[in-house]
Amino acid sequence: MRREEFVLLRGWFQGFCESFYSAEKEDQLNIKLKERHSFGVCENMSLIARQYIEGEEGIVLAEAVGLLHDVGRFPQYARYKTFRDSISVNHGVLGVETLIKECPISEMDVEEYAILTQSIKYHNAYKIPPGLDSDTVKYLKLIRDADKLDIWRVFIEYFDTDEADRPSAAALGLPLVGLCNNDVLRSVYNRQMVLLKDVSTLDDYKLLQLSWIFDLNFATSHRLLLERGYIGRILGNMPQVDGLESFLTAYVTEKTHG
Ligand SMILES: [Fe+2]
Repeated sequence: MRREEFVLLRGWFQGFCESFYSAEKEDQLNIKLKERHSFGVCENMSLIARQYIEGEEGIVLAEAVGLLHDVGRFPQYARYKTFRDSISVNHGVLGVETLIKECPISEMDVEEYAILTQSIKYHNAYKIPPGLDSDTVKYLKLIRDADKLDIWRVFIEYFDTDEADRPSAAALGLPLVGLCNNDVLRSVYNRQMVLLKDVSTLDDYKLLQLSWIFDLNFATSHRLLLERGYIGRILGNMPQVDGLESFLTAYVTEKTHG
């Protein structure tokens, strides 16, 4: 993708976000959350992709995937007032439908168009589905890492914000109370991603989010995670589990070596 094409796309996306702005404070916070997230993921994509993709046009395409990956969140929130796919709609699928309907991307290069739409469609799948071509898989791996890195930022900032100013839909409406579930802790110590079905409190959910480190694909993503101190900042906001921070930090540090 040429830089000029990306600039046009970014202009379209900015206007698209603004079309969902609301005079209701809660709705506006939730929409702004996803707008800022989209730009954050775009930046992360740029940082990670330039280590793994040859050529400027490929890197710009990665930035476009980052910017547009959550385009489905806006109509999802407008229709259902939630970001929980399980009680509304798959926002990856809705994102592709939204782009096809509303965004001027039909003049894109055919191969780039395929990568962009497939990456959006599957960025939130539990695992990357089999049978995709290797270029698409590479972009999917990139977007999944870039997305996770920015979701960690969102979550940390959420807890650093006064309750009245928090974007309500960010924490999925889970109760704050309770200690971590043993199944959740067991998954983490087994270096496995926590399953949403085992999550019953917000602290469980924090561990679920941290368990995403076991699904990161690129050494650069591990390095960014360490540099930004996300592990300690998430664990610092919940009851202490002895040894957990050093266990996770050691795992990520090892992975930065490639
Ligand atoms: Fe998403």
